[in-house]
Amino acid sequence: MRRVAVTDGMAEEAVKRLENAGCEVVQEFIEHQQLVQGALAEFDAIIVRSATKITEEMLAVSQPRLKVVARAGVGVDNIDIDAASKIGVPVVNAPRASTQSVVELTVGHLLSSLRFIPRADRSLRSGDWAKKELKGTELYGKRLGLIGFGRIAQGVAAVARAFGMEVHSYDPYLPLSIAKKAGVTMHKNIDNLFKLCTHISVHCNLTEETHHLINQKRIKMMPGVDPFNLACGNHIVNCARGGIVDEDAALEALESGQLSSLALDVFEHEPVDPSSPLLQHQNFHGTPHIGAATIEAQRRVGLDIVDAVLTVLDGGMAETTVNRNDLS
Ligand code: MLT
Repeated sequence: MRRVAVTDGMAEEAVKRLENAGCEVVQEFIEHQQLVQGALAEFDAIIVRSATKITEEMLAVSQPRLKVVARAGVGVDNIDIDAASKIGVPVVNAPRASTQSVVELTVGHLLSSLRFIPRADRSLRSGDWAKKELKGTELYGKRLGLIGFGRIAQGVAAVARAFGMEVHSYDPYLPLSIAKKAGVTMHKNIDNLFKLCTHISVHCNLTEETHHLINQKRIKMMPGVDPFNLACGNHIVNCARGGIVDEDAALEALESGQLSSLALDVFEHEPVDPSSPLLQHQNFHGTPHIGAATIEAQRRVGLDIVDAVLTVLDGGMAETTVNRNDLS
């Protein structure tokens, strides 16, 4: 019987689909040490989210049984893909399933920042009726800069345009025609995005190239005024990956007033240290990496990843194999 480890939870419907396909499903978190000691060799497939890290040393003792490593989500930065490729194990993910949920969270954060929703709620609870102080700004007429223009950014762009925003983007890997069709201005130089836009949202992967891509120098470039010269301040949202925003630089910019708001769903170190000074700043608000945490997204993620796992276990190549070109 095919054995599948599900270490970080998965929608019940998806677990049932695996069982109906004749798999024994073991749903429990496996400690790092057990994985290093060869736990993977007892399974044909492992399905993880972000809590379980799959390293080279774990994969080295996974053979001959393990046939696929599956990430129930988009980001595969917790899996050593090169090591999996070396031993011929495909790594599959579910890149489309959570798009709408992340789009909606991003827009939620943007609106929360501009209308001080978290701060207003805090002051209300403390007995303060801060009606006069909490004067926000509209999205209408503002310039939004999207770093990366994949599926999620395209979804955010569509909503932003419906709000009347002017949308700009930087994505060196995407054909210009996609942005043009979406009514978005594409820039070849990322600095132009910061020079033009008062609102920036991150939608790229974390790589060496994108680590601290939002830093002191770039935050300083942001104009703080909209195209009609209205002082709307500068605002940054990151619901993509931690580490793309330099959190120390962002805190400094919040303190100096160059940055009016920062909203993060993702942090360089997760879970974030609750005593971090960033978390205490009144113009910061955050969420604990919940972009894909909706009933709908988790159901789709589970079903998509199970389809990919079963395809591999049946001897096929899943459409969402991320190391397709490196498998020997
Ligand atoms: C993903 O990569 O799918 C998201 O960041 C969600 C998650 O890691 O749970």
